[in-house]
Amino acid sequence: MSAPSPARGPEGPGDRLSRIRRRFGEFATEYADLPLYAALCRNLSEDDEAASLLLAARPGQARPVLWLAAVHDLVLRNPDSTAAQWYPSVVRRRAPLEGDPWPDVRQFALAHRAELEACIATHGTQTNEVNRSVYVALGLALAAADVPDLPVALLELGASAGLLLGVERYAVELTAPAGREGEAPVRLGDPGSPVRCSGVDRRGVARRLGEHGVGLPRVAARVGLDLAPVDVADDGAVRWLEACLWPDVPGRVERFRAARAVLRDDPPVLVAGDMVDDLPAALARAADGAGPDGHVVVLTSWALTYLDPARRADVLDHLGGLAARGRALSWLSAEPPGCVPGLVTTVEGVAGVEGNTVLGLHRWRDGRALEPVVLGTCQAHGAWVDVSPDLVESTVLHQSSR
Ligand SMILES: C[S@@+](CC[C@H](N)C(=O)[O-])C[C@H]1O[C@@H](n2cnc3c(N)ncnc32)[C@H](O)[C@@H]1O
Repeated sequence: MSAPSPARGPEGPGDRLSRIRRRFGEFATEYADLPLYAALCRNLSEDDEAASLLLAARPGQARPVLWLAAVHDLVLRNPDSTAAQWYPSVVRRRAPLEGDPWPDVRQFALAHRAELEACIATHGTQTNEVNRSVYVALGLALAAADVPDLPVALLELGASAGLLLGVERYAVELTAPAGREGEAPVRLGDPGSPVRCSGVDRRGVARRLGEHGVGLPRVAARVGLDLAPVDVADDGAVRWLEACLWPDVPGRVERFRAARAVLRDDPPVLVAGDMVDDLPAALARAADGAGPDGHVVVLTSWALTYLDPARRADVLDHLGGLAARGRALSWLSAEPPGCVPGLVTTVEGVAGVEGNTVLGLHRWRDGRALEPVVLGTCQAHGAWVDVSPDLVESTVLHQSSR
C-alpha cells in the first residue's frame, strides 16, 4: 500500500506564477503562427516580472489573453509609443515589423505596471466577433425560408455590443471550397457595405439556397439582451472589446471597427439583463418591433454555453410560451456541441473538430413546434460552414406547416 500523500495547502503566489508562466508557454505553442502574440507569450513564459502582472486578476481570470488584452488596450491608447509600432491594429500594417517585439513591449508594460494591474484586476475578456455573420446570415436565410415575406425582428441573447445584429447591413461572402476556386462566391447582405465578412461554404449550401430563391428577409427590428451590453457609442467600452481581439489576425480589427461605424448611426436596442429571467420582456419588445404578424428570430451565438446547463431548458420554455400565441418564431443557435436543448448533435465529426460550433434551428409555426434541425457545423469565427444542401432541402425547405 502506498504512503498517504501530504495534504495540499492553498496555492501560494509562487505556485500561481509558475502556473501563469506555463499557460503563456502553452499559448505560444498553440498559436505559434501568430507572429506578435506567440513571441510575447514565449518570452512571458520565462519572465517572472512581466508575467506577474496577471497575479492581479480575479479568481479564474488569470489567462494569457487577459494580459494580452490589457496591454493591447494600453497600446491603443498610446499609439505613438514604441511598443505600439509592433501592433498591426495600430500601425495598420498587414505584417508586423521585422525583429523581436519583446524588449519594447516588456519595457512599455513594466513602465505602466500600476495601470495594467488595475485593468487586469477589474476586467475579463469578452468577444463580439463580426465574421460570425457568415453563419448568422446563412442561418437567418434558412430560418425565414418558409416565411420569406414576413418582417423579422432579430433578438440576440448574449449580444455583447450587438454587432451580429447588423448582419444584413454587411457584405457577407460564402466562397467555394478548395478545388472549386473558379466559382464566384455567393453574396448575402449589402454588397456595398464596408464590413466584409467571408467564410468557405464547404458543401455549396448557399448556392443551392440561391437556386431556391432563398435570401435574407427584411429585418424590421433588432434587440440585444446581455448581462453586460456594450454601447457602440461608448468609446472606452468599445476599445476594450477591440483590445480583446487578436491584432495578429488580418482583417479582424478592421472588420470590428467598420461594423461599429455602420451601427453607430442606427444602433440595435440593447437591454441589460439575464437571458432567462429577462427573456419574456425582451421577447415582447422584439414582437412589438416585428409587428402583429412579424417573425421573431432569436439568435444565440457562443452565449448559451455560458448559461448554467440547468437553466438552458428555461430558454426553450419561454420561446414556446410566445410561440403558443401563434406567432412565427425561430431560434437560430450557434453553440458548442451538446449545449442547446432539443438538438440531437450527432452530426458526424462534431466532437472531433477543433473550435467547432453546431448550427441549429428550432421553429414554431401556427402555434406548434416543428422538429428541431441540426443544420451542420461551422468554425467558431465563421471561417467555414459545413451544412449539407440535401439535409437542408429535406428538413427546412420542404418541411413546414405552411
Ligand atoms: C462570447 S460572448 C458572444 C457575443 C456574441 N454573441 C458573439 O457571438 O460575438 C458571450 C456574451 O454572452 C453574455 N452572457 C453570458 N451569460 C449571460 C446571461 N446569463 N444572460 C445574458 N447574457 C449573458 C456575455 O456578457 C457576453 O457578452
